[in-house]
Amino acid sequence: MLKILTVCLGNICRSPIAEDVLRVKCQDLGLDVKVDSAGTANYHIGSPPDSRMIQTARKFGYDIQGLRARQFHTRDFDDFDYIFTMDQSNWENVVRQAKNATQKAKVYSFQEFAGVDSPDFVPDPYYGTEKHFVETFQIVEVSAANIAEKLKNIHQ
Ligand code: 4NP
Repeated sequence: MLKILTVCLGNICRSPIAEDVLRVKCQDLGLDVKVDSAGTANYHIGSPPDSRMIQTARKFGYDIQGLRARQFHTRDFDDFDYIFTMDQSNWENVVRQAKNATQKAKVYSFQEFAGVDSPDFVPDPYYGTEKHFVETFQIVEVSAANIAEKLKNIHQ
């Protein structure tokens, strides 16, 4: 089983939708996966995803209301094979906590791994409007499909 973690700042907007969409895309391709998500910050521990992201997800056929935020911890380096960060700041925060090269090598930019060249990170919709949530969702969905294909090529 492939173990995958998506990481953003609050674990209430980007990484929960990335978690769910990536799980579905991987399962659609027959990959045996466990997908989880976490935030580098502790602001929203125990909270459900942002209601605006729950609504956006629902509109596109995904149900993320049961997810609960947690903070990234160093044990995640042992528990997961791939750690996908949503933006540069998340990437730096996670990599800084790696104890060795093996742990560091598990950390990838979600967008870079997806081979998506625009934009170079997943925009944070938290301070935006509904339009920004839809935009973020669509970026995540395209990237997640690419990532699932790539993981299938590597592991099957
Ligand atoms: P996320 O978005 O990292 O995609 O979950 C944010 C959520 C909360 C905050 C910032 C970004 N915040 O400052 O509370």
